[in-house]
Amino acid sequence: MRLDKFICKSTELSRPDARGVIHAGEIFVNGEVITDAATQVHENNRITLAGQPLIARPSRYLMMHKPPGTLCSNLDGAYPSLFRWLDIDRAEDLHIVGRLDADTTGLVLLTDDGRWSFNIIRPQQQCEKTYRVGLRDPLADDVAERFARGLLLQGETAPTLPARLEPVGPREVLLTITEGRFHQVKRMFSAVGNRVIGLHREQIGKVRLDVPSGQWRHLTTDEVDCF
Ligand code: URA
Repeated sequence: MRLDKFICKSTELSRPDARGVIHAGEIFVNGEVITDAATQVHENNRITLAGQPLIARPSRYLMMHKPPGTLCSNLDGAYPSLFRWLDIDRAEDLHIVGRLDADTTGLVLLTDDGRWSFNIIRPQQQCEKTYRVGLRDPLADDVAERFARGLLLQGETAPTLPARLEPVGPREVLLTITEGRFHQVKRMFSAVGNRVIGLHREQIGKVRLDVPSGQWRHLTTDEVDCF
């Protein structure tokens, strides 16, 4: 990771203050003074400030149950940010892994480990996301097959990857997709003449949501490692 990020992760300094001590020549990496904040460092390097070795805090991995009418953003906007429900130290260091629309509820993953989140959202990973979907109209007979084949969304040139649809009621389904296109679930149902009236994410990969709305918990080691 970058040296300034490492300093933040191992001290109480903000990013600007971390850059300040780096530029002031107070940081040594393996015995050599380093004044470039962008220098890449590794946990195995010996990094010191005022002669004291610095040790990075371990990365954090959380699940949160997003309430309706909240934004998957670090800042408030038209709706309050999800971070208002996150009563944890240094919440500003965390980022959201795969956003949900303001009206969508359910499972959101948060972390300060950029590699971990990139691995989950990169398209090649084809990570499964399962949504419980409420529909305006009863499900037509051919929709499961059309989703399994892949269908063209408005304004796009590549069809969606095969998706798995499991009816749970006349107007309710579980849908598992492996992509994260903009408003994908709503646009898939729109493409087959229906409309999403309720959307809730239940699962990402093997991680299943199990905390009440507005609550969060740390992921277990198995959950962190399953991606
Ligand atoms: N698909 C959507 O349309 N909205 C979401 O929030 C997530 C997936």
